[in-house]
Amino acid sequence: MIQYFSEETSVETVNARMGTTTTPRMAEVMSSLVKHLHAFAKEVHLTQAEWDIGIEFLTKTGQICSGERQEFILLSDVLGFSMLVDAINNRRPAGATENTVFGPFHVENAPIRTMGENISLDGKGESCLFEGKVLDLHGNPIDGACVDVWSDNADGFYDVQQPDIQPKWNNRGRFITGRDGLYAFRGIKPTSYPIPDDGPVGKMLAQMGRHPYRPAHMHFLVTAPGFHKLVTHTFVGDDPYLDSDAVFGVKQTLIAPFERLEDADTLWRSPFDFMLTPE
Ligand code: BEZ
Ligand code: FE
Repeated sequence: MIQYFSEETSVETVNARMGTTTTPRMAEVMSSLVKHLHAFAKEVHLTQAEWDIGIEFLTKTGQICSGERQEFILLSDVLGFSMLVDAINNRRPAGATENTVFGPFHVENAPIRTMGENISLDGKGESCLFEGKVLDLHGNPIDGACVDVWSDNADGFYDVQQPDIQPKWNNRGRFITGRDGLYAFRGIKPTSYPIPDDGPVGKMLAQMGRHPYRPAHMHFLVTAPGFHKLVTHTFVGDDPYLDSDAVFGVKQTLIAPFERLEDADTLWRSPFDFMLTPE
């Protein structure tokens, strides 16, 4: 007997249409998506007016996307989905440095700088020395690791958000370790900032009674031949947004020391070692 659509059998009816030419993985993912999507609508008894708002929201989310702006990733981030997918795909042994959210502000091919060089080019903010080692799980230094770093400036903006105001490559750089595995650079003690909240995701956050702020952090992308890529941040420990990061990126192990220095040129020091896992 033909099975026509009904509320009771909605999942089975839709999933029965899966073609025979699809891949097993596509069939698995799509049938699960249909199952959970239908369960969601049934659980909340979604009204037609609410679904119309949902469609309008998704439409606006797509329309605001451009080469510089990815609102769907932002949506995934604020729903904790980016962190969940990252956690599922980066289960690591104890001691290995944990991943966190990549974010939209990384720029490829930042200048390769000499060890100790200052990445803060706009003269704003409290200077901070970031230093430590890139190590394997046995504590051996990793030679030739690339430590790619980026942060917002003292006003809470990345250079790419203010191309007419900030110098190009402000608060960015790549540092290549030697045989001692050491990295060191000067930047600024990071400041907390709001994620872009002038679009549909920002409006959604406001309607959910949530703020858009991220606690102050320095981004690190650490790569080395033979090791898994590490995408992470270090966080400033006394930040008021540590327990309410808009994108759920904070992990206890990523909260770094920020020690006050007496040096007139460098006000802070933040030591942190990175432990990579072998491929
Ligand atoms: C960031 O830390 O740069 C970031 C992460 C997720 C969304 C927006 C910004
Ligand atoms: Fe950031």
